[in-house]
Amino acid sequence: MTKMNTDNRIFSEINQILDDSPRLAYVRSFGCQLNVSDGEKIKGMLKKLGYGFTEDETRADLIILNTCAVRESAEDRVFGIIGSMKKLKELKPSLIIGISGCMTAQSHISERIKKSYRQVDFVVGTSAIRSIPGLLLDCLKGRKFGMDIEEYDDFSESVEQVRSCSFKASVPIMFGCNNFCTYCIVPYVRGRERSRRQEDIVAEVEQLAAEGCKEIMLLGQNVNSYGNDLGEKNAFPRLLRRLNGIDGDFTIRFMSSHPKDASKELIDAIFDCEKVAKHLHLPLQSGDNGVLERMNRRYTVEKYLETVDGIRRRDPDFSLTTDIIVGFPNETEGEFQGTLDVIERVKFDNIYPFIYSRRSGTKAAEIQDETRDEEKSARMRRLLDLQHSISAESYKRFIGRRMRVLAEDVSKKRKGYIAGKSNEFIIVEFEGDTSLIGQFVDVEIIDAMNWAVIGKII
Ligand code: 5AD
Ligand code: SF4
Repeated sequence: MTKMNTDNRIFSEINQILDDSPRLAYVRSFGCQLNVSDGEKIKGMLKKLGYGFTEDETRADLIILNTCAVRESAEDRVFGIIGSMKKLKELKPSLIIGISGCMTAQSHISERIKKSYRQVDFVVGTSAIRSIPGLLLDCLKGRKFGMDIEEYDDFSESVEQVRSCSFKASVPIMFGCNNFCTYCIVPYVRGRERSRRQEDIVAEVEQLAAEGCKEIMLLGQNVNSYGNDLGEKNAFPRLLRRLNGIDGDFTIRFMSSHPKDASKELIDAIFDCEKVAKHLHLPLQSGDNGVLERMNRRYTVEKYLETVDGIRRRDPDFSLTTDIIVGFPNETEGEFQGTLDVIERVKFDNIYPFIYSRRSGTKAAEIQDETRDEEKSARMRRLLDLQHSISAESYKRFIGRRMRVLAEDVSKKRKGYIAGKSNEFIIVEFEGDTSLIGQFVDVEIIDAMNWAVIGKII
């Protein structure tokens, strides 16, 4: 039987069993935007099965927790939530609970869930989300526990996403990672790099643009390595140019880029394409060559700075953001100082710092780490203090300028204000009403803080 026929059979069997019963699902995604995008695909499948959605887990007939494994704290949080769901299941025995996402791809975690969390009905791996209807059907037929953590070579191309936002959309363009940075679990839970076909991506973006979408975020663990697995050179810059040619008033963003693939062709494409945002998120991780080598990052501080200088020569104001890992095993004070020096030199508009988290199964997990946790926390505070002072100073450069902002939401901090993002990925707040949400608004910047700028509608 073809996959399509099997899907149809499962769908009609589920419909028969559930008949008129309520079908409300609570789907919660943790972690990165790729995982959020998988969550939207899971919702797409459930919608086809007749499910509606709720944000209130106590009302749900089906709960799916789409998990993240990048740091231990994220896993602990999910285990806490799974634990608390035992009560919900006692109150409603017909409730079905499924766990998906990166945590499930680690067999010791799936086994732990199976053994110790009896309230869970099924576990499904990152590339097996198309198995969810089948697993669900088995549960409805009375099976106690189901699991599918196989690695399938399937991009779920035909699965429609239930997108949480009408004016911003994520479009995954590649999956997996070949880099094996020594601290990182991703290559073990997401498999090797697989790029989607350019035609499929173009068709999806054309559709989104035709629907009036204002911001399209291209996603991949190493988005700028797109096409390397297809043996195509410069496939990512070429993709950007092709997407830039699609009709419509929208911005193209992409995340995350690996510095080793930040080529001249990529930078040229960013500057040449008017729809591509003038912002690059380029994870540095550490500003010390020894640490970078121990991390297996495959670039040096000098090479990274060469890329930054090349960009800033063309536009001194170009917006850069980065990820930093603080306290990689046995990072010395001198090595940490190297990171502070690069932060000081580059003046990122924003940084996303993380304290190193030991991930079992990775190379770095085998290193005996002598650095104390208190020392790591102290370094984190020093890093954040430095970045706050840099942002406070560098955001002042926007005062008096005009910015085109995509209005996204009401401000959480100021009544009567709307919060949005500028083309440079800077948070902008301005006085305005909610009817502006989802539109581009031109504002003049009148004030700057260390996390956002304040504008006035022109
Ligand atoms: N510990 C801390 N941070 C990590 N990251 C990835 N793995 C770990 C880890 N084990 C961070 C990196 C990456 C970001 C998405 O998460 O900075 O760029
Ligand atoms: Fe993890 Fe490195 Fe791959 Fe990024 S490039 S997903 S940090 S292994």
